[in-house]
Amino acid sequence: MGNFNCQHPSITVHMLSLLILLLLNSHVALCSCYKRIFSFGDSIIDTGNYVHLVSNSSFKYMELPYGMTFFKHATGRMSDGRVLVDFYAQSLQLPLIPPNLPENTSGQFPHGANFAVLDATALPPSFYEGLNHSVSTPWCLGMQYGWFEEMLKRIAPGDGARRRLLAESLIVFGEIGSSDYVSWFNAGGSREKAKEFMPMIGYISFLLNILDLDCTQWVIYLSAKVVMIPNNFPIGCLPSFLSRFHSHEPKDYDEHGCLRWFNDFTLAHNLGLFEEVNWLQLQYPDVKLIYADYYNATMELLKNPDRFGFGDPLVACCGGDGPYHTSMDCNKKAKVWGDPDRFVSWDGIRMTEKAYNIIVKGVLKGPFANPPLLRSCSN
Ligand SMILES: *[C@@H]1O[C@H](CO)[C@@H](O)[C@H](O)[C@H]1NC(C)=O
Ligand SMILES: *[C@@H]1O[C@H](CO)[C@@H](O)[C@H](O)[C@H]1NC(C)=O
Ligand SMILES: *[C@@H]1O[C@H](CO)[C@@H](O)[C@H](O)[C@H]1NC(C)=O
Ligand SMILES: *[C@@H]1O[C@H](CO)[C@@H](O)[C@H](O)[C@H]1NC(C)=O
Repeated sequence: MGNFNCQHPSITVHMLSLLILLLLNSHVALCSCYKRIFSFGDSIIDTGNYVHLVSNSSFKYMELPYGMTFFKHATGRMSDGRVLVDFYAQSLQLPLIPPNLPENTSGQFPHGANFAVLDATALPPSFYEGLNHSVSTPWCLGMQYGWFEEMLKRIAPGDGARRRLLAESLIVFGEIGSSDYVSWFNAGGSREKAKEFMPMIGYISFLLNILDLDCTQWVIYLSAKVVMIPNNFPIGCLPSFLSRFHSHEPKDYDEHGCLRWFNDFTLAHNLGLFEEVNWLQLQYPDVKLIYADYYNATMELLKNPDRFGFGDPLVACCGGDGPYHTSMDCNKKAKVWGDPDRFVSWDGIRMTEKAYNIIVKGVLKGPFANPPLLRSCSN
């Protein structure tokens, strides 16, 4: 586990007090293997960018029950508490990583910044215009890069400073792409057509060539040392999808009660992404690429809900009535069906902090990341 493991067995009381002295005298976290986290994505890890962008309209994410479990007030996270990136930060002994936009002209972001925005797509809105489809937000991955680049120019001007900063940073690249699919299918977009544009989302570098954006490679060129790329969740198990695409054909469901077609679709996306990550790893041996398997980590919760103390894993904690509790959106007037710790799904789309916490454990120590994130600290 490399130098992440700070509990060396031969540590003496003497050394311990020295350590405490050092800690008291400096703000450097001795056992942390990254100084910063920079993350990109959608509502799964948005920690306040979206509510900042829409701050002049009263919005459901600014009110309880969002935030009820951990923060006890709404923070702009689309969950009852912490989200994946918060748990990464805490596990790496960093403070919670702030959203970028509220401080994007002055923040120094000593521990990193989160660029994720609700409903952000991997492909830009202009791509979907060509398909006669409009996505709900313009804040796609490419735009998030733009913000990242602006921030780097400001907090680490010059080649050397930028390289040093990125060499100490963990880049979390997603998940991204599920908003593309969710928005497409919700608008009644055809399944066949989705299969055609899926490779452009899965195959990151293909996307980069098309957009001439150099997403992942761009991060790598900027000399990032560790980049984590999570895959997509099983969208066929989302309460909102189960409700909207309800079928009377038993064969449309798998043994866990999820919609087979949508999960097979996501698996195909994930396979494409996996192959892309492997290819990139071969191209860039000096960069450590971590493929995080959110899909299987989530399936584990759905297969064995009892083991984790969950009830029915296919119903939302916050929402309305109906078989999946989705007759109504989660907002301050919605029904909260009980202790969020008993639910995998928070609002029918996003998960509870308990579910996110379990997923993060599988990414930090394995088996749901290759290599496990904590092992990436060892060089
Ligand atoms: C914010 O207010 C301006 C001016 O009233 C309005 O044009 C804009 O649409 C509002 N933005 C949102 C996201 O509601
Ligand atoms: C685009 O969508 C609109 C409504 O969603 C429809 O009226 C129009 O015919 C579509 N155009 C094409 C070229 O498919
Ligand atoms: C800061 O964020 C705002 C949106 O809140 C955006 O319009 C602006 O371009 C951003 N500025 C920088 C330097 O990234
Ligand atoms: C993840 O799920 C896929 C599809 O079910 C399976 O082929 C693969 O072996 C799983 N990986 C892990 C690490 O469980």
